[in-house]
Amino acid sequence: MKPVTKMGAVVLVLFTIGVFISPVKSLDNGLALKPTMGWLHWERFMCNVDCDTDPNNCISENLYMQMADVMVTEGWKEAGYEYVCIDDCWPSHQRDAKGRLQADPKRFPRGIKKLADYVHSKGLKLGIYADLGTFTCGGFPGSMGYYDIDAQTFADWGVDLLKFDGCYMKWTLLGEGYTNMSIALNQTGRSILYSCEWPLYEWPHHQPDYAAIRKACNHWRNFADVYDSWDSVKTILDWTADHQDVIVPAAGPGGWNDPDMLVIGNFGLSHAQQESQMALWAIMASPLLMSNDLRDICPRSKQLLQNTRIIAISQDPLGRQGYRTAKVDSFEVWERHLSGGRLALAVMNKQEIGGPRGFPLTLATLPSWKICHPQCNVTQVLPSYKELGVQTLLSKLVVVVNPSGTALLTVTPI
Ligand code: GLA
Repeated sequence: MKPVTKMGAVVLVLFTIGVFISPVKSLDNGLALKPTMGWLHWERFMCNVDCDTDPNNCISENLYMQMADVMVTEGWKEAGYEYVCIDDCWPSHQRDAKGRLQADPKRFPRGIKKLADYVHSKGLKLGIYADLGTFTCGGFPGSMGYYDIDAQTFADWGVDLLKFDGCYMKWTLLGEGYTNMSIALNQTGRSILYSCEWPLYEWPHHQPDYAAIRKACNHWRNFADVYDSWDSVKTILDWTADHQDVIVPAAGPGGWNDPDMLVIGNFGLSHAQQESQMALWAIMASPLLMSNDLRDICPRSKQLLQNTRIIAISQDPLGRQGYRTAKVDSFEVWERHLSGGRLALAVMNKQEIGGPRGFPLTLATLPSWKICHPQCNVTQVLPSYKELGVQTLLSKLVVVVNPSGTALLTVTPI
């Protein structure tokens, strides 16, 4: 037997600790150690294939090249947004003579490999979309019967992320299908982040097996598609809180619950509501995949999406997902444990009438406020940045929250 070197011993100890403390094993591809950040076309651009009348907004190579350009020049990449992701409606309706998927030749004249090269030349990564059934949700060719070929094609093209949808598939075969594609991606030898929709399609039938999902996927959609509306965002938050006992323990470095895209910067949310989506997506340790038009976005939305203090909460290295702790007086309180014994707190004002309302931070409304014994330091991140200073259990701190907005705080024990 070879003697164990000092380095080997350290690795062995770290490995052993890792095995014993991680609650559920994650997909072992070394990716998504923090929630994925990037841009995904679906909510904003949908299945717009009409490049003749709408060349600027149709699903074509230009759209992703322009987004990649802007991501570099407008500070998105620097803020941490890394993946430029294609959703449905990119392929041709026919596979090629070797059975491989091919991009629509009119809309992607240079093909996906060239697009990946372009995106990589900007220091960014490229995501693509496929479906484990016979068709994609938009009616393009599905991957059923072609998992190995498709995984290899994506790897050959230099793709870095696959969103794998679950339309046109018998639900009892979802587990097998998602697992087999995970294996197929792994076998290509290329690092491809794997974004699943497995539990979303299983929930109508039974409670999904999150240990199995976490072993196969880097993130997974649980619930319906996000729309550009406050109703949609609220429904996603309610679903998440109602199922938090089941889904929160499954999240951690390597695998995350995915409540769907950020719709900040579009048409449907007020600024307060955009702040709520950003704050709560950070609390939920969600992927931050924006679906908006980065070429034309209002400065306030941009500032919110690039807010380094919120992004730091999202990307906290402890990697624990937050949860709802209370519903009181039309407020909701959410918290997330952060590294260094710190806490992130979100107080959302659910009353959609009247003006800003005060929420007192006390042990009665907030059991984890005990973190402030003997003392803590409080920073308000939203709606505006403010150092609220040293507090104790006896402090009478009140945060003021706009209707359908959120006050986001970090609390550091002293
Ligand atoms: C499903 C997914 C969406 C999007 C569309 C594309 O509805 O949940 O996120 O990918 O398909 O057709």
